[in-house]
Amino acid sequence: MPSQPRVFVTRALPGDALEGLAQRTRCEVWSGEGPPSPKELAAAAQDCDGLLCLLTDRIDSKLLDHCTRVRVVSSCSVGLDHIDLAHATARGIRVGYTPGVLVETTADLAFALLLAAARRVVEADRFVRAAQWTWQRRWEPELLLGRDLHGGTLGVIGLGLVGRAVARRARGFDMRVLGWTRSGQSVEGVEAVELNQLLAESDFVTVHVAYSEETHGLLDAAAIAGMKRGAVLVSTARGGIVDEEALAAALKSGALAGAGLDVFADEPLDPASPLLRLPNLVVTPHIGSASVTTRKRMAALAVDNLLAGLAGRPLPHCANPELEQTGAA
Ligand code: GLV
Repeated sequence: MPSQPRVFVTRALPGDALEGLAQRTRCEVWSGEGPPSPKELAAAAQDCDGLLCLLTDRIDSKLLDHCTRVRVVSSCSVGLDHIDLAHATARGIRVGYTPGVLVETTADLAFALLLAAARRVVEADRFVRAAQWTWQRRWEPELLLGRDLHGGTLGVIGLGLVGRAVARRARGFDMRVLGWTRSGQSVEGVEAVELNQLLAESDFVTVHVAYSEETHGLLDAAAIAGMKRGAVLVSTARGGIVDEEALAAALKSGALAGAGLDVFADEPLDPASPLLRLPNLVVTPHIGSASVTTRKRMAALAVDNLLAGLAGRPLPHCANPELEQTGAA
């Protein structure tokens, strides 16, 4: 019987997918607190045939060159900006990822942030907990007035699976939906417009483009200045797409009424960040896909990708399909 492939998994995952992996491979799961450091990762992965990683692991050219046996890298994420995909492809290493399974869950969080920022849910929660909801203030005509999401105009930046799932939800809120993609793709129920028109006309803007050199700073100071006065901006995509300093200035001046961010240029966000002093900003710690069901599905798909790659079969979701076409394994 051929010996089982060796794999390194950078973190325990929800569900039972790793049990299945352990039956088919010689599998080591990182048990340290938090992610392994680059040094620890290099040491653990060096003699492995496959690697199952998270978006907190840097899979750069140095690591890939160091781990000469690795044939497949499977990331339990849809985003791949932590992996040097070009280098992996050049080395013939197939890269798996988990699109599809987290679409609706991420769209739910984008909508949660839109509603929370529009209706000032977090500010209201803080108000009650701070014992400010007194008998004198038990119902005030002007207490914590927010913006109506229903009936407003929503601008969706990026009309991939998540952007379209958010657009579908918006139609249930009787919203006019504007959309922008670089490809100019048309989507039913979404008016395709230029980015500056989307920013100028939308009461709510939600960001769903992948992070790349082209999308870095897409919502920079000039773009934010071009937004409708009193609008709300939400991002569940990746940090670095929205200019956080420009956003903070717009929230402070009242140019924007509110914002919701699940992703930041530097994660974790520094507790001393000036962003955290803005009452009209709702922040969450990169939890777009964080539902019990979705995280189990992501783990199962990441394991399926890894096992397929190790067996030389096509990956269910391969980020460098050109390697599949040439039959590289
Ligand atoms: C989450 O951000 C992911 O890329 O899966």
